[in-house]
Amino acid sequence: MRTQVAIVGAGPAGLLLGALLHRAGIDNVVLEQRSAEYVLGRIRAGVLEQVAVDLLREAGAAVRMDELGLPHGGFEMAFGDRRLRIDLQALTGKQVMVYGQTEVTRDLMAHRQASGRPTHYEAENVQPHGYDGERPHLSYRHGGSERRLEADFIVGCDGFHGVCRATLPAGALQTFEKVYPFGWLGLLADTPPVNDELIYGHTERGFMLASMRSHERSRYYLQCSLDDKVEQWSDEAFWAEFSRRLPADVAQRLATGPSLEKSIAPLRSFVAEPMRFGRLFLAGDAAHIVPPTGAKGLNLAASDVGLLARALAEYYRGTGPGRSAGIDHYSQQALARVWKAERFSWWFTSLMHRFPENGDFGLRMQQAEFDYLCHSTAAQTVLAENYVGLPLG
Ligand code: APR
Ligand code: PHB
Repeated sequence: MRTQVAIVGAGPAGLLLGALLHRAGIDNVVLEQRSAEYVLGRIRAGVLEQVAVDLLREAGAAVRMDELGLPHGGFEMAFGDRRLRIDLQALTGKQVMVYGQTEVTRDLMAHRQASGRPTHYEAENVQPHGYDGERPHLSYRHGGSERRLEADFIVGCDGFHGVCRATLPAGALQTFEKVYPFGWLGLLADTPPVNDELIYGHTERGFMLASMRSHERSRYYLQCSLDDKVEQWSDEAFWAEFSRRLPADVAQRLATGPSLEKSIAPLRSFVAEPMRFGRLFLAGDAAHIVPPTGAKGLNLAASDVGLLARALAEYYRGTGPGRSAGIDHYSQQALARVWKAERFSWWFTSLMHRFPENGDFGLRMQQAEFDYLCHSTAAQTVLAENYVGLPLG
């Protein structure tokens, strides 16, 4: 088979890129190792920046988001017995959209189905070849036979454990990593959210986050030990601990119920540089991971493919050597935004989680940082600007 852009991975990065390229009339094929059901079954975050919202609208995959998504003009922070509301609308003139990543993926899958662009689920042993030359291709196994997909460009949207970054020659990449000494225990339940807006809490028992998927479905998180096993946490144990970490007045109105999903995720900051190797590009989790505290994972995946789709459209529209300017700057432009989101996610994680290993001085630093936030509009504006999302660039 032959196409213009071969995309590895049907997560939000791969599917949104496919939709934006379709919109630009650029031929593309998506190869995904798992089934569509499996991809849809993964529970992930759910706060969209304006940049991601705009890209979904540009791609024509925003109808359900605009119908069911919840625009939020602010969120709350609780630190010990102190509370602070960050008024995103007043501080930045912008909002965020609370809409689950699962729903975004569902909408992009439906959009792709309607576009008629090829998607091969359960493609085995996908391998990129020849991207340091003029005619790269992907080899893979599908439906029991060996296949070959030739393309002008290959885009690795295959996540942190994907094949595209893994196949790069040693030394081609520089990586940066920070692993946090705790995890997030997440629970999804069909219970009315305990608060209209998200609450991020720093308590002596650890971090907590009260989030939601709709007015009927809640998503809650607790900082937990990396030694914990999800089996150790019954629903009752989760609700009891979550209630302890909520501000007392909020805890009174907590509705509990059976969990639909419960899982523990480690926290990591990771960046691989550069994000381009000849005719192979990396986007999304294939190139970078953020701790979930700032809800930047999905938004960075969207901004990467927003920049790349723009650059590829410029390439295919153009004629002279200038037509490669965008793709030649993709890695640098994407990394500039990635590192700012990494910094914000690390800062927010460092402020709102318990780090017993940092001792009393570490706790005093967090308290002073929160106190400063409470008294400084400038500091709140910095937080709000990063939370709603920095410009695409
Ligand atoms: N061949 C084909 N597909 C692959 C391969 C492979 N060798 N390896 C991985 N994949 C697929 C995975 O099955 C997955 O569906 O690539 C897809 C990668 O999707 P994600 O991991 O969701 O990554 P991305 O699209 O970049 O989205 C990033 O997801 O993890 C969250 O917090 C993260 O919100 C962020 C978003
Ligand atoms: C979520 O709803 O899953 C969520 C929201 C905000 C975050 C992280 C996760 O910062």
